[in-house]
Amino acid sequence: MHNVDIDLVEMSLDVIKFAIGRISDNDPQLGFPKKAEELKALVGETITPKGIGGEKAFELFREVLVKSSVSIDHPRHLAFVPASPTRPAVMIYLETSAATVHGAFWLEGAGLIFAEMQAMEWLVSLTGMPSGSFGVFTSGGTEANLSALVAARENWRRDDPSRTRERGIVITSNGAHSSISAMAKVIDADLVLIETEDRLDGKKLAEMIDTMDEATRKRVFAVIATAGTTNSGIIDDLSGIADVCKKHNFWFHVDAAYGGAALAVKSVRPLFNGIEQADSVTIDPHKWLFSPYDCGAVIYRDPEIAKLAHAQEGSYLDIFSDEGAKGFNPSDYQIQLTRRVRGLPLWFSLAMHGTDRYEKAISRGIELAHIAGRLITQADHTELVREPSLSCVLYRRIGWQADDYRAWTYKNHKSGFELVAPTKWRNPGGAETVSRFCFINPDTTEKDIVDILESMK
Ligand SMILES: Cc1ncc(COP(=O)(O)O)c(C=O)c1O
Repeated sequence: MHNVDIDLVEMSLDVIKFAIGRISDNDPQLGFPKKAEELKALVGETITPKGIGGEKAFELFREVLVKSSVSIDHPRHLAFVPASPTRPAVMIYLETSAATVHGAFWLEGAGLIFAEMQAMEWLVSLTGMPSGSFGVFTSGGTEANLSALVAARENWRRDDPSRTRERGIVITSNGAHSSISAMAKVIDADLVLIETEDRLDGKKLAEMIDTMDEATRKRVFAVIATAGTTNSGIIDDLSGIADVCKKHNFWFHVDAAYGGAALAVKSVRPLFNGIEQADSVTIDPHKWLFSPYDCGAVIYRDPEIAKLAHAQEGSYLDIFSDEGAKGFNPSDYQIQLTRRVRGLPLWFSLAMHGTDRYEKAISRGIELAHIAGRLITQADHTELVREPSLSCVLYRRIGWQADDYRAWTYKNHKSGFELVAPTKWRNPGGAETVSRFCFINPDTTEKDIVDILESMK
């Protein structure tokens, strides 16, 4: 199994050939999921005592399995938060796997961790957080949010040991991503939601805190603002929220998993003012920073607080604190121990292309959202639900109900044309099903948008 032989060479050539073919394909198949029963019929039993051989396994991967998965970087994949990794970022991940580096500790991963740190310095500089702020690359936004929440909760308990068994409270709004309530569950915290999917401001937060009695208020250990809501790209009033957090001594976390990339775009940077006051920030390079999956990031104003919460101890880990092993250990600042050096693709692509080209590629998403806004307004059969925000556009097909949107989504996806999924927007009158674009891929064209809107006629 670990031999170097002709089979290995042939299999490796096949794999590299596929990788080069895929990354240089400007029009990849969109892909459509098959049911598990259909896949079983096509693939059969693959795990056998003797193995089916590399050639067969790779053929199944190439001809069946990948084709039954969606190419999220397809230029007309505008659903959810798509991705569009740069080609060099994808290729360096092959190399990172080949190099087999353990990315948890400096002793083992120094060189590649150093590269990750340079990419992290750029991310931190975008936030404007004070000197000393730093972070680590995580598996995604969910893990970044969880790591930040654990750091906040432990800090709150350290401030007053009588809180050790107290259940804490996290405040956020309906606009927050679903991972916030999921991670509050993981850490057994109560979540208080401010009833708005629109921009949360300091006033609404202060009013909600005023409704809490003293005992409840003392249980609050974090407030989470969103900088680029997943549904509609809204950026909360970060300055106003920061002021309220400061007044009450609450940890201020900004979830910029999707929107954070736009910090690099000068024209929209002022919308994020206040982010520099955060205690922690989540930004996902695997969303709008063109990294392959999976790569999130969490940044802390005071990384030592995160280290107190996350650093693991064990006799087998003692050596990592020796002088000879000293250096930055990413595992000290997040919930994961063993990790791949997942910030490396971002570093490589940034180093290769430079930050100016990143700004340009991210700006294109915002530009596409404005183009879509104009086309939607000009057409007779569509209208905007709200003005485009960052690279998100919510719009309605006049006269359609929820079932019409769903049927249209499946039809266009199945034909391999595009994937645009419906969502809901909360109006005072209730939740309305609408259509949503999220632009990430700079290769999406105006014609793509025209064609998608035409298909709604
Ligand atoms: C604002 C926001 N936060 C968190 C997440 C979760 O990130 P991930 O899916 O990388 O765990 C998302 C995902 O879309 C998001 O948009």
